[in-house]
Amino acid sequence: MAKVYVFDHPLIQHKLTYIREKQTGTKEFRELVDEVATLMAFEITRDMPLEEIEIDTPVSRTKSNVLSGKKIGIIPILRAGIGMVDGILKLIPAAKVGHIGLYRDPKTLKPVEYYVKLPSDVEERDFIVVDPMLATGGSAIEAINSLKTRGGKNIKFMCLIAAPEGVELLKEAHPDVDIYIAALDEKLNEKGYIVPGLGDAGDRLFGTK
Ligand code: PRP
Ligand code: URA
Repeated sequence: MAKVYVFDHPLIQHKLTYIREKQTGTKEFRELVDEVATLMAFEITRDMPLEEIEIDTPVSRTKSNVLSGKKIGIIPILRAGIGMVDGILKLIPAAKVGHIGLYRDPKTLKPVEYYVKLPSDVEERDFIVVDPMLATGGSAIEAINSLKTRGGKNIKFMCLIAAPEGVELLKEAHPDVDIYIAALDEKLNEKGYIVPGLGDAGDRLFGTK
């Protein structure tokens, strides 16, 4: 069964408060999302495998650890997932980035896929699918379906804010995908927005309405 991790690190929680705050403008919103993505990437990579190699320091020969696992692919769900990519790349600069474009139909709230471009060596990588919001769960479920259909395995899902409804559906649809979130909010409202949430992540990130 999928595990759900809520990152309660004080820096993440502090920055998330200002991300939520409606007075926060586009520039600051973008910067904060970027910073939180870096902090979350630090936490999410905790279980990366290591191997010991021999090196020479200026003083002596020694054994020391380097990463040994598969290479990483980061998959932002367009649009808002883009805001988290640079923050993750600061810690995993060699990761390749694929894109899955989905928007929620405003009436049905069902995801509509419009773009998919993945790294060519999809079967060789471990993936982190990123999106600031997990609301009904439809977009995350569909993006992960899309990635799996093209050969993606070993997938983690990372978001800033999740609604309990979305977490449950994602766990059910993809029991092999662990979920990493900065905050688990109260509920969805009648328009499918997370309460209290942060509003529309894409609009706040890109200054659209
Ligand atoms: C937002 C958000 C997620 C999705 C979450 O995107 O970035 O992708 O909604 O909702 P769900 O869990 O109910 O599917 P949106 O559809 O607004 O598209 P955008 O990023 O292009 O603005
Ligand atoms: N998408 C968003 O951007 N915000 C929400 O609260 C729900 C879906």
